[in-house]
This record gives sequence, C-alpha cells and structure tokens, in this order.
Amino acid sequence: MCIWRSNCKDTIVCSRTDTKDEVRLLFKSISDSFDKMAIHEHNHVPDADKEYMLPRDGRETIRLTAQHYLLINRQGWILHPDVEKAIENIPHPKIIDLATGNGTWAFDIAQKLPNSSVCGLDISKAQFPAKAIRPSNLELDTYDLLQDVPDEHRGKYDVVHVRLLLCAGPAADKSVFIECFQKFLKPGGWLQWDELSYPLVFNVHIDANYPNGLHQKASAEYPIMRVTQKNLRVKERLGWMDDFETTFHDAGGWGIVKKVNIPIRPHLLKIETDLLIAALTDMMETAVRIKKIKDYSDLAEISQAVQQMREDCDSGSMLAYNWVCGVAQKC
Ligand SMILES: C[S@@+](CC[C@H](N)C(=O)[O-])C[C@H]1O[C@@H](n2cnc3c(N)ncnc32)[C@H](O)[C@@H]1O
Repeated sequence: MCIWRSNCKDTIVCSRTDTKDEVRLLFKSISDSFDKMAIHEHNHVPDADKEYMLPRDGRETIRLTAQHYLLINRQGWILHPDVEKAIENIPHPKIIDLATGNGTWAFDIAQKLPNSSVCGLDISKAQFPAKAIRPSNLELDTYDLLQDVPDEHRGKYDVVHVRLLLCAGPAADKSVFIECFQKFLKPGGWLQWDELSYPLVFNVHIDANYPNGLHQKASAEYPIMRVTQKNLRVKERLGWMDDFETTFHDAGGWGIVKKVNIPIRPHLLKIETDLLIAALTDMMETAVRIKKIKDYSDLAEISQAVQQMREDCDSGSMLAYNWVCGVAQKC
C-alpha cells in the first residue's frame, strides 16, 4: 500500500526530525506503488501523456466524480448562464467536453439536455464508464489535445467545455489549446473553461464570529504550494488564468470573453478540503515519479509539506479551490 494515500496518520512515516532512512523508505514505497499501478495501464502511452500529474486508478476516478459534484455545487451551474442562454433555442445543440477524464461532466450534461448530442474526448480511455451505462446521446473517444483536430470534429460544436487542464500535457503555452478549441467550435459557438487559478488553493479559517469570520488566503509560500510550484511549475501552467480576457483577445477570433471568480461556499469546505488533500498528495507522488526525484532534501521537503498540510487540516484549517470559470464566444 502507498503510505501517502492512507488517511491513517500512523502510516505517515516522515516527521520534521526524519532520518534519511525513513525518507528512503517513503521513496521506495512511492516507487513500488507506481510500479504496481503501471501494470494496469494501457501499453502505449502517447508522449503528451508521459508527464500526466495524476493516477487513473479507481480511487482517482471516485475523486473526479466527487469533485464534479462539488464544483457544480460551488459554481451553481453546470453550464455558465451565458452559455446556457446562448443554446436555449438550438433544438439539438452539439456539445463537446475535451480532456473529459471519466466523462462525468459530459455524462451529466447529456442527461440534463436529452436533445443534445454530447461527445467527450480524452488522451486516455482508462477512466471511461462502460458503454452500456452511458446515455444514448453521449459518445466517448480518445484524442490528444496536442494533435490536430480531426476533420469530423472541425467547426461542429455549439459548446466546447474544458475543465482542469492544469494537469494536461507538458504544454505551458496555452495558445495551442486556445487554437484547438476554436477549431472545434462553430462560428458563434461558446467555450467554457473551468479551472484553478494560481496558487491553486485558499487556506480557509473560520473563527468564532462566523458567518462574518471567514478568512481566506491564497499563499504561494504555504509549503505544499511551494513544493508544487518547485516540482510541477503550476504557475507557468496556470498563472495566465488571471489574464484570461487579455489572452483570448490577443489570440484573436474571439468576441465576448469574460471570467468569473467563484466564491467559497462554507458548507462545501469539508469535502473540498478532503479532495484537495488527496489531489495535492497524488500530484506530489507523481512529481517524485515523473521527475524521478531521488535527492534527499527534495524528498524531505515534499514529505514535510504534505505532512504539514494534513496536520493543519487535522487542527481545523480548511482548503478551498482557487476556482474560476472563463467563457468566450467564437466570432
Ligand atoms: C484532472 S483530469 C480532469 C478530467 C475532467 N475534465 C474533469 O474535470 O473531471 C485531467 C484530464 O486531462 C487529460 N489529458 C491530459 N493530457 C491530455 C491531452 N494532451 N489530451 C487530452 N486529454 C489530456 C487526462 O487524461 C485527464 O483525464
């Protein structure tokens, strides 16, 4: 069993006074767990997938599903109100969800809009639900966002949806993705991009004066954020989300562009904290795997940051996604 993924505090072997042997033990455990996981993965891994930051096992699929329901609750919509309005008079809207993961968003929208035709594409089909249980208006298939858009999909969609592309591929340059989304859309079609903004999480404290005592702070210096940045360069991947409007206007070919910061909803903070602990822990495990980190001080820094996050949350701190939704209409 992988010790970082356990919720049992006793199994976290590293403390701030760790010996090198204990850190080596931690590293071996992480390597072993990934070796076992690799057996279940498909044989051919496209180049763009070699740096994917998360696992694709059953636990991760459950995390994505829980995260979907958390995020649409926090947003208050599955389709941004402008996008929903834009397609309300289209009898059979065509919708595509790119980097669909386990297809939960696509599955949900297909059920909510039974007259729509929905497609979900991902570089890996490892997390797709079985065909027999998919809604009849939902198709799922494989596609690498860094490859050219296939002819059968070009200019065909009223809505392109993407979510959590932070983890997608090595590309720090999002212009490749923006160009790709434009190719999928019909003229006048809408893109909805739900994403984390740098530095990914808010530390949230609720004091005795709640509901007036909710304090939120997004700090790049919080240890788990510092090691995430150092090892996975999340600022380069996501920092531009702050300039969503400018980036799209500069790219050209887009009309209305807007971004909404999604407020924290206190009643969701428990599940949000649990999901973020799981995701950040897994991302750091992946950093160890794909970067093959063997340096003692780097491993110790990562394990201490993970442990501090867990201890802070055990003592009443909470974490929330620094969550934004951007929409853009193709000219
Ligand atoms: C964190 S998951 C998010 C899944 C889904 N969008 C959601 O919000 O539940 C990121 C997804 O991006 C996919 N992905 C990564 N690189 C990709 C690429 N180059 N092309 C297509 N999908 C990619 C991964 O396989 C994974 O399913």
